[in-house]
Amino acid sequence: MNEIIKNRRSIRKFKPDVPVTKEQLNRMLEAAMMAPSACNSRPWEFIAITKREVLDEIAKVHPHAKMCETASAAIIIVAIPQTDAKPAGYYPQDCGAATQNILLEAVSLGLGTCWCGIYPRDEQIADFRKLFNINEPKIPFCVIAIGTPAEEPAPRGFFEEAKVRFVE
Ligand SMILES: Cc1cc2nc3c(=O)[nH]c(=O)nc-3n(C[C@H](O)[C@H](O)[C@H](O)COP(=O)(O)O)c2cc1C
Repeated sequence: MNEIIKNRRSIRKFKPDVPVTKEQLNRMLEAAMMAPSACNSRPWEFIAITKREVLDEIAKVHPHAKMCETASAAIIIVAIPQTDAKPAGYYPQDCGAATQNILLEAVSLGLGTCWCGIYPRDEQIADFRKLFNINEPKIPFCVIAIGTPAEEPAPRGFFEEAKVRFVE
């Protein structure tokens, strides 16, 4: 088992005084953009935030993102639903893959993250549209809190044989 996959946990307490650098943010953003997407449509954009007041505002508007109060950065993934010749409807999967790549790259940088869902909750989509001026057809998909972990939760995922059907 890949150690990064095994050790990744949602982190909800961060060391508030340790900054996340631009170089680290770019590493995570590059990892996001390496994700697979339907027909290689890459239906995403990113908002990278390190401004304290804005991180605090995210903690206020999102009912389950209070950890942004101690996070040093956040990345918002903005989905761009597929149009034209691209097959419609795959953007949540594509943006989910990009999100997971950010979480895993963060572990390799010694950082912790928490994936906080926005899509498909109408109220949260509306709040993030307003806060970051995200207009239709773009959709705020999720916000990832990022920082240096101030907690060390043990690995949580596990293998469940009952959830697998082998066809041999
Ligand atoms: C789509 C999605 C939305 C989530 N939204 C939140 C959230 O709003 N706030 C939060 O604290 N955690 C959120 N999480 C984190 C989950 O609670 C967490 O991944 C799960 O409990 C498993 O724990 P682990 O990430 O530590 O393995 C979300 C995770 C996913 C995949």
